[in-house]
Amino acid sequence: MAAAARARFHRLPVRAVDRLTDDAVALTFAVPEELREAFRHAPGQHLALRRSVDGTEVRRTYSICSAVPAGEPPRELRVGVRLVDGGAFSTYAHKEIAVGDEVEVMTPAGRFTLDPAPGHYAAVVGGSGITPVLSIASTLLAREPGARFCLVRSDRTTASTMFLEEVADLKDRYPDRFQLVTVVSREEQQAGLASGRLDKERLAALLPALLPVGEVAGWFLCGPFGLVQGAERALRGLGVRRERVHEEIFHVDDGPVPARPAPAAAPAHSTVTAQLDGRAGTWPVQDGESLLEAVLRNRSDAPYACKGGVCGTCRAFLVQGSVRMDRNFALEPEETEAGYVLACQSHPTTEKVELDFDR
Ligand code: FES
Repeated sequence: MAAAARARFHRLPVRAVDRLTDDAVALTFAVPEELREAFRHAPGQHLALRRSVDGTEVRRTYSICSAVPAGEPPRELRVGVRLVDGGAFSTYAHKEIAVGDEVEVMTPAGRFTLDPAPGHYAAVVGGSGITPVLSIASTLLAREPGARFCLVRSDRTTASTMFLEEVADLKDRYPDRFQLVTVVSREEQQAGLASGRLDKERLAALLPALLPVGEVAGWFLCGPFGLVQGAERALRGLGVRRERVHEEIFHVDDGPVPARPAPAAAPAHSTVTAQLDGRAGTWPVQDGESLLEAVLRNRSDAPYACKGGVCGTCRAFLVQGSVRMDRNFALEPEETEAGYVLACQSHPTTEKVELDFDR
């Protein structure tokens, strides 16, 4: 398998800061000509942004919301940023970032993506989970005249709903091919809007009424853990094949961490060998630390963004040995079966572990 292009940070100038709601902004970065190829991306991918706060490096990932132009690499990139209480990066994005500032931006990553093709596609999203799906839907509809997209979105209130105008624009542009259902959880029913929560039971009843569930080529579930899990279970109950369902979790803390097997005994001493950007090294793994931490102590260029098992930036191929992962919200079952792990969640269960970040 060819070595994957490794994620790298570049300084990109901010071209626009647009307020989406009281607690959400969209940041648009200009991509200089010489970096356009490096920032080529698929609809649904995300960017990690980096800054230093009181001497500590802070990284956060935000999904790209812009449509992906056919064929040519991007001239600009737009991400949605929702303000998180006490959030080190989101507060900066809301209160300080101005047009002309430069921000350190990692090249795009993520496998919650769509390769545009004719057919019927659908998404169930909650809150800021609309961000990657906006890119997926707008790219698909613009590029594939034979494609249809059904979006089921939920939010707390209409006022807190991100990208209202952009989604309304899709409805205007593609009235026959774009279907929208909006559910608000904290508002009385309004004209055309359903209220309440989108849980498994509700989705199991709603989805077959909206579209031919068995004919949908790809399902995109994105948002808080509880919503994605409910949607996934509803689809399973409706007989949808697992490989047609793509998931991306935002806000893991909103939901319970899935049960995992009891940890296997950790060896007293273990080492990790890591192949990174064509160079390899072997280092000890200290008690309790993740493989990513062990590698980072020696190779500060090891890829990561969330360190929470969500973004998938730290994905590596397990060449030798075995590991246990604390949690995994990023890798598909096919990827773990093929031997990929999340370095930020992995702890060695054998004395020697070898990872390849280049595969
Ligand atoms: S850094 Fe995000 S999953 Fe490991």
